[in-house]
Amino acid sequence: MRLKTPDCQATIGIGRIDAVTGSMQTKRTLTGITTTGTPHLGNYVGAIKPAILASQDPSSETFYFLADYHALVKCEDPERVVQSTLEIAATWLALGLDVERSVFYRQSDVPQIPELTWFLSCVTAKGLMNRAHAYKAAVAENEAVNEDPDLGINLGLFSYPVLMAADILMFNAAIVPVGRDQLQHLEMARDIAQRFNHRYGEYFVLPEGQVDDHVATLPGTDGRKMSKSYDNTIPLWLPEKALRKAIMRIKTNSLEPGEPKDPDDSALFSIYAAFASDEARQSMRQAYRDGIAWGEAKQQVFELINAELAEPRARYEALIAKPDEVEAILQAGAERARGLAEPFMASLREAVGIRSLSSYIIK
Ligand code: TRP
Repeated sequence: MRLKTPDCQATIGIGRIDAVTGSMQTKRTLTGITTTGTPHLGNYVGAIKPAILASQDPSSETFYFLADYHALVKCEDPERVVQSTLEIAATWLALGLDVERSVFYRQSDVPQIPELTWFLSCVTAKGLMNRAHAYKAAVAENEAVNEDPDLGINLGLFSYPVLMAADILMFNAAIVPVGRDQLQHLEMARDIAQRFNHRYGEYFVLPEGQVDDHVATLPGTDGRKMSKSYDNTIPLWLPEKALRKAIMRIKTNSLEPGEPKDPDDSALFSIYAAFASDEARQSMRQAYRDGIAWGEAKQQVFELINAELAEPRARYEALIAKPDEVEAILQAGAERARGLAEPFMASLREAVGIRSLSSYIIK
C-alpha cells in the first residue's frame, strides 16, 4: 500500500515511529558503553552518575546498553571483553540503575542490531565513513611513518559509525548523551537515518547528541583528563585501602603546609569538587587559601569519595560474586529490547523488500 500511494508514506512512516517511541512527550534517551575496560572515577562522574540520575526523571525513557560488538573493534582479548561486561553491568546495577524503568541490555543479545547495521550499511556512502575522525587518525598515523595507510585497520573500525547508528536508530532514540569525541558519530547517524528515510519512508527519528558541559571532566592522577589512554585513572571499585593509596598518589606541587594554594590550579581540588556539596567545596577553597597541607587535602578527598562509594561498593562486590544474577538481569533487559526491536525490524524488512512470498503477485 505504501508503495502505491506515496502520499501516505510519510503518515504511515510517522505512525510507525510513534509505535516505537511511545508518546511524543517522552524523549527517548539512549547510550552505550564499550566493554573494554574497568570503570574508573572519571567514567563515574562524567557518564554513569548523570545517566543514572537522568533515568530517575519520571518523564524520561532511558535505554542503556553494553556495546560488546563495539568492543571487538579494538579488543581481541576475549577474557577482557567478558570481564569488562560483568564489571560494567555490575557497576550500573550497584549504583542503583532501576532496570524496571530503564531498558538495560547487552548489544549482542539483540540480533536485530547487526541486521539493521547491514540495512544501514547499504544506504551509507563509503565516502562518509572515510571522513570519520577515528579512521582518519589511524590512517594519518600510518602515513606519518610511511606505512601502508590501511595497516592494522579492520573493517570494524571503518564501519564503526554504522553499527553505532544501528544501536541508536533501532530504538528511535531522540537524545544520545555522549562524550564530545562521539558527536561526529551522531551526525553520521543522522545522515544515515535521513538517507534511509528518503529512500524507504520516514522510519527513523533523527537523533541528537547531548554533551553535558556542566559535568566536569575529572582530572586523573597526573592532572590531565582521567582516561584509560593516559594511564592516569583511579578505578572506581578499589578497596578502601587501595583507593586511599591511589588518591595519595595524585600529583600536587611542592608547596609546604601553611603556604596558600590555588584551588583553580589543582587536579586534587577538581576531583574534590566533583564529589562535594557546594558548601564543602567553598570551605575547601578557603582551606586551600589558608594553606592546607597536601596530605590533609588528600585525606579529605579520600574520605569524601569513600563515603559516597562505600555502600555501592559492597553491592558491587556482591554482584561480581554472582555473575549468574547479573546475567539474568541482562537477559530480562534484552527480552524487552528485542520486544521493541523485532516488530520494528519486521517493518524495515518489509520496507526494503525482504518479504514473504506467500501472498506476493508479480506486478
Ligand atoms: N562509541 C561509543 C563510545 O565509544 C559507545 C557507543 C556504542 C555508543 N554505541 C553507542 C554511544 C550508541 C551512544 C550510542 O563512547
